[in-house]
Amino acid sequence: MHGIIFQELQQYVESKLGNEIWVSLLQAAGMEGRVFMPTKSYPDEEATALVTIASEMTGTPAAEILEDFGKFIVPDLYKLFGMLIRPEWKTLDVVENAERSIHTAIRAKDPNAKPPELACTRLGPDEVLIEYSSDRKMCAVAVGIAKGIAEHYSEKIEVTHDTCMLKGDPVCKIGFKRVD
Ligand code: HEM
Repeated sequence: MHGIIFQELQQYVESKLGNEIWVSLLQAAGMEGRVFMPTKSYPDEEATALVTIASEMTGTPAAEILEDFGKFIVPDLYKLFGMLIRPEWKTLDVVENAERSIHTAIRAKDPNAKPPELACTRLGPDEVLIEYSSDRKMCAVAVGIAKGIAEHYSEKIEVTHDTCMLKGDPVCKIGFKRVD
C-alpha cells in the first residue's frame, strides 16, 4: 500500500488518539521507529497489522476504524489529486468515475500506487453500484471514502453492502444512493 496512505494512517491515529498511541502501535506491530515515505510503497500486511492492533487496543471493530479512516483521508485526496476531479461533479459522479478517471490515472502516473480495481455502474441519476474485489479486503475504506466525498459536497448518501468479501463472497457489491 502507498506510503501516502501510511502517512495518513499515522495522522489519523495521532489526531484521534495522540502520538504516544501511534508509537506504541508501531512497537506492538514490530515496526518500532518506522517512518513511512510518500514516494514508496509498503506491504499491505503492515497496514492490516496496524489496524488490527488499533482495534484490539481501542475495542473498536477494524471495519469501523477503516470506514472512519476512509472519511478522514478525503480532504487530502482532494488536495493531492483534485486535478482528476471535474469541477461539475458531485458525490455520485466522483464515485462513478473512481475507477475510469481517478484510480486509472493514478496507476498510470505513479508506479507505487496500486489502488483497487473497482467496477462502477451508474444505475440511475441517484444511484451507483461499486463492485470491489481487492485482496486487501478493505471495503470499509471504500464506504468511508464515499461518505467523506458526500460530506465534501454537503450531500447525503445511503450505503448498502449486499455481498461482502469479509463474509466469504467473491466480491463486495456496495450501493450508494443520494437521498437529499
Ligand atoms: C477522491 C477520489 C479518489 C482518489 C483521489 C483516490 C485515490 C486513491 C489512492 C491514491 C489510493 C491508495 C492506493 C495504494 O495504496 O497504492 C486509494 C485506495 C483506495 N481507494 Fe481510492 N480514490 C478515490 C476515490 C475512491 C472511491 C470513490 C472509492 C470507492 C467508493 C475508492 C476506494 C478505494 C479503496 C477501497 C482503497 C484502499 C484499499 C484497497 O486497495 O482495497 N476510492 N485511492
